[in-house]
Amino acid sequence: MRENASISRLSAELLDEHADLLKFFDRYERSAIGHAVADFVAGNPHEMPLPKFVDALRKWLEPRSKDHFAYKMSDPDAVRTVVASLGDRVRMPFEPEDIAMTNGAFSGLTITLRAICDPRDDVIYLSPPWFFYRGIIRSLGATPVRVAVDPSTWDIDLAAVERAITPRTRAILVNSPNNPTGRLYPRATLDRLAGLLEERSRGNGRRIYLVSDEAYSRILFDGHRYESPALSYPHTLVVYTYGKQLLTPGERIGYVALPPTMPAGDRAALRGALLMAQLVTGWAWPNAVLQYALGDLENVSIDIPRLQRKRDRVVNALKDAGYRLHVPEGTFYLLPHVPWKDHDAFYDHLNARGVFVLPGSTVELPGTFRISLTANDAMIDKALPVFAAAVREPAPA
Ligand SMILES: Cc1ncc(COP(=O)(O)O)c(C=O)c1O
Repeated sequence: MRENASISRLSAELLDEHADLLKFFDRYERSAIGHAVADFVAGNPHEMPLPKFVDALRKWLEPRSKDHFAYKMSDPDAVRTVVASLGDRVRMPFEPEDIAMTNGAFSGLTITLRAICDPRDDVIYLSPPWFFYRGIIRSLGATPVRVAVDPSTWDIDLAAVERAITPRTRAILVNSPNNPTGRLYPRATLDRLAGLLEERSRGNGRRIYLVSDEAYSRILFDGHRYESPALSYPHTLVVYTYGKQLLTPGERIGYVALPPTMPAGDRAALRGALLMAQLVTGWAWPNAVLQYALGDLENVSIDIPRLQRKRDRVVNALKDAGYRLHVPEGTFYLLPHVPWKDHDAFYDHLNARGVFVLPGSTVELPGTFRISLTANDAMIDKALPVFAAAVREPAPA
């Protein structure tokens, strides 16, 4: 680790841990953003925003009282919208007091872990993970514990989770459908995970929580229905962001929700803990305008059948070209295997032809690369022949 007296030790450690990711994004920003490239790197929009989103923001921007822009925690109307939405989708009667509006899943995850973890607690995450789980866990003084998913199915390896649980385990992070694998964990897996967590919580004499990162729970293909882990395990904290369904990750709104099946005493304690965590994390509530607009935004979504058609087109083209990959059940992402032994040479080859993807090393899985289907059709048109040709090219020695 690079010691640096002008910053904290933790900052230096976090910079160290994210060095590869930061280096990658720096290079990507310099060579891809603003240039006419086929950009498959992040779940970012590459088309104009949904008109209904813009209309709702315009409508709710207009002040209706002197308090329109006053400090705002969880707005009661936004909370009512979330309660109705969870009632429809999870089919459970969530209580308004058990909803904390957040500025996306980023802060939802941070306040959740801050509310439940002590320094030196273990938090299990499934690998390949979303890039910032480790950093968020470490920033709280807790210890990230990596458990790889089953490499042949991308499903949760329950035996490996069982081996990773210790008396220090406080939580497991579950993200389904999963970024980056696209895997929707089957209900049977979640039920078995719940049984394991219940048994080991009892053995430890301390609750192991399930933190359910449901960022992509409405980005599902092939008629799949979402079944929240909260249906399997009452001690689940549900974390959601509207940034995916609206494809507006720069306008940030989401929530943390405690299911009504969680014991009332635990929920009462967690409500206070989440509120404190929101304050000390730096006012982790969404801006007022987005909260007012939520009633108009709840049912607005990017065109999922169109996204599925893009998935099919790219998956089929990559498979025909000889790539190995799982067909995702949801999310924006594909995770093919790199066809060359020299992964960097493969990325350089794509970049030189104006195609940018996310190297699997940034998600703990070198040898794969992630493609975001939020790329537009012109980008896909440009990239597919490049991907196909790369397989036919003799890889450099
Ligand atoms: C799995 C996962 N969790 C959480 C987030 C954070 O979402 P947001 O930026 O909307 O807070 C993302 C965003 O990419 C994600 O992919």
